[in-house]
This record gives sequence, C-alpha cells and structure tokens, in this order.
Amino acid sequence: MVSTVERSQTSCRYLPTGDRAASSPNQSVLPLTATVSAADHLMIGGCDVVDLVNRFGSPLYILDEATLRTACRQYRDAMRQHYPGESLAIYASKAWNCLAVCAIVASEGLGIDVVSGGELHTALQAGLTGDRIYFHGNNKSVEELSRAIEADCRIVVDNWHELRTLVMLQSNAAKPITILLRLTPGIECHTHEYIRTGHLDSKFGFDPDQIETVFQYVSKQEGLLCIGLHAHIGSQIFELQPHEDLAGVMVQWLQKAAQYGLPVSELDIGGGLGICYTESDDPPSIDAWVKVVSTAVAKACEAQGIALPRLICEPGRSLIGSACVTAYTVGGQKIVPDIRTYVAVDGGMSDNPRPITYQSVYRALAANQMSIPLTESVTIAGKHCESGDVVIQEAVLPPLTAGDILVIAATGAYNYSMASNYNRVPRPAAVLVNDGDAHLIIQRETLQDLIRQDCLPAHLTSLDAAHDGLA
Ligand code: LLP
Repeated sequence: MVSTVERSQTSCRYLPTGDRAASSPNQSVLPLTATVSAADHLMIGGCDVVDLVNRFGSPLYILDEATLRTACRQYRDAMRQHYPGESLAIYASKAWNCLAVCAIVASEGLGIDVVSGGELHTALQAGLTGDRIYFHGNNKSVEELSRAIEADCRIVVDNWHELRTLVMLQSNAAKPITILLRLTPGIECHTHEYIRTGHLDSKFGFDPDQIETVFQYVSKQEGLLCIGLHAHIGSQIFELQPHEDLAGVMVQWLQKAAQYGLPVSELDIGGGLGICYTESDDPPSIDAWVKVVSTAVAKACEAQGIALPRLICEPGRSLIGSACVTAYTVGGQKIVPDIRTYVAVDGGMSDNPRPITYQSVYRALAANQMSIPLTESVTIAGKHCESGDVVIQEAVLPPLTAGDILVIAATGAYNYSMASNYNRVPRPAAVLVNDGDAHLIIQRETLQDLIRQDCLPAHLTSLDAAHDGLA
C-alpha cells in the first residue's frame, strides 16, 4: 500500500498516515514512526527530535530502527513470497556502512555488499560471516582481495585485471576462491548519469562482447569457483521495465555460463529501486519491485528450461534512505530584497554532498514548530565556503529564527557514507532511535579528531623559528 503524505501547505506535511505496517518505507518521505508531540515537536522512534539535538548536539543524523527493519523484512518476505526458489537480499552498505547498521541488517537475515577493505572490515567486525558478504568494486587491491579470500567472502569479479590477480592469488589459497562475474548488460535507465551503471560505456563489469571468452577462461581455472553472475543498472530508478529486462538478459547469460561448465547457481540482479525524497516522487513499493524481478527471472528460467538460481538482490537506498533524517540548528538569515532569503544551518555539503553533486532535492520541516503555517519560501544554505553549498533551493517553511531545529528528510542513504571534513567541519553524530530509546551509533568528531592524522615535520614545530626564517 502506498504510504500517503499530508500535502497541506498550512501545516506540517510528509507525515506518514494510514496503515504504517503495510506501508513501504521507500514511499514515505519521513520514517514510518514519525509523529507530532503535544509540544508540537517532530517525534521519530518515540523520541522528540528537539530533545535529541539538545542531548547529542547538532547537526545530528537520526536513524529510525523500525523503518530500517521494516524495509529489510519487506525485501526478505517479498522474495520468499514471489520467488519460487531460494533467495537472499543483501544490503548495499555503500549507502551507509557502520557497525550498528551492519548489525541490524544482518540480524534481519540479510547479507551485505561491500566495496572496499574498509566496508569489509566493518561488516566482519559487526559479526557477518564471509558467506553472507559479497565484495564488489572495479579496482580492488591485492590487499583487499587477500582479506576477502581469507574471510571466505564471495568476490564479484569486475574485470580482466581482477580475474588475473585472483588466479595469481589462488595459488596460495587453501581452497578455490568463490566468485561471481559482473557483466554489463547494456541496459539504459532514467537516472542521474553519475549513478547509471548498466549502459555499455560504464567503468563497471565485463563487456557483453567478451562474455564467452570470460566464461571459457574461468572454466579452466581450477582455483576459481564461479557460482553466479551479477549486474546492476543504476540507482534511484522508478521504472520497473529496465529491471524486468535485466532479469531476462541475465537468465540467458546464466544458460550460457552453464554451457561452459561453470557451476552457476546464483543470479544477483543488483539494487537500484528509488525512494521518495519529495511528495512528487512516486517509486514502486519494495513488494512491487521484488515481484516484477522475481517473476521475470522465474518465467525466463521456465522458458529456457533451466533450474531456478538462488535469486539475490542488493538494495541500498530503498532499505535505509527513508529511515533517517538530519537535524540542523538554524543560524543567521540573509535577505536579498526581491530575490530570496537565505536561512543558514550548521551543516551542509560536508554531511550531505548530494545536492551539490547530483542536484538532489530534499524536503525540510521545522521540528520544533510542526503545526505553524508554512508561509515562507526560503533557501536553506549550508555553512561551507562555497556558493553551491545549498541544502534546499526552495523550501516552504514557517517563519524561522536562530535556534530553530530544521529537519531534512530521507537522508539515510549516501549522506553519512559520503560525508567529508570539507572546511575542517567535524562530521555529525548519529543516533539510533526506537520505542523512545536513543543510542549513539556514531560519535561526533571532535576538533582533536580532525588533526589526528596530521603530521607536523620537526622543522615546522616552532612557529618562532618559522617566523625568524621569514624575517
Ligand atoms: N549494487 C551495486 C553494484 C551498486 O553499485 C549499487 C550502488 C547498489 C547495489 C545499490 O544501489 P541502490 O539500491 O542504493 O540504488 N552516491 C549516489 C548513489 C551511488 C550508487 C552506487 N551504487 C547517490 O547519492 O545517489
């Protein structure tokens, strides 16, 4: 069922309404537990957002455990319901990789997709075992591959260079290395060009022209156990057709791989389902997406007379995107007569680089005055020294003053994970909220953290000496 959002221009919008349990988290701008308190404050996971900021500081990522768990269950249950064979949903942890998130997702029975030694380390530290970790990436280092082999992960091989590196490494391995092959399907989809990956001119995956050569090469490597094929066409996709097409293409590849004697039993169709950032976004529900891809794979297998592979999908954004909001504190305002009013907040492109990178559009709410009429149209400016550091170009909000708490919705995916220390701004803390409890899951960076990796060569340690040198 589509989770509706209130659209009144006179008071707070975007609150989930209707049957929460039946809503698809990716179709709600705010987390599923969002409500308004008697004090007119936004509540998430039973916690007052204003209290959270007072307790944990600002800016603050607030992650709603119930929304994340609901999305995990929806993927898991929909795959069980719609796919007649074995299935596994794995979380694309590039969306937000940290110990707590990995642990939650794993406790819901999902696997994890990692793309670097750092993400792999975090997943292992969170308690995941190698058989549930899929290691992606177009330029994995020898160190990263060695660690993945040691942990017995599934390695999704991207290209010839990696394949040859693995052949070299397998001579030291105790047993064959379990791999999947990433193929480029040549499928176009409508999303930002930076996050499209399935078209032919992509840096990821083996070119379709080379598939048979790759299959033949791999079939001759005793040290490589190729259990499956993988493809991913892009991110924040609302259309179902490209995913349906992908399923058909991949089943054909599977048949071809089997003809070369590869023991392929897994088909990993990637992630990509979009979420609702604004009230005009209308993505399919998790259930609808899973149903389409499951049915397409099952039908194609039946048509070609091949056994059903274990179906794997690897969503990131649609699992965690709507589970989090970022709370900021309002600072100064600048009125440019007849043009616009800038309202500055205490974060911006360092905690959310998506607006400046992809021109992403977000929605804001005044968390400490949820029912005050939305009479102002303002630009929410970040605090970084860059004109492009604008969180929202046109936000409709109540009148704001310094100290108000502004919440930006749907910041769970690719915000914390892409955050930087631009302008030496410390990265925010993150709290996990559930049933009225709040737990810190990422500490706020301190000023000392910012210089922890700096090294000052001895000849620069005395400012006096440096000054003398200039005199
Ligand atoms: N699998 C692979 C191989 C991927 O490359 C990705 C995302 C996913 C799964 C998960 O896709 P999702 O379900 O989250 O759409 N930083 C960009 C998004 C980059 C996506 C990279 N790959 C953004 O902020 O929009």
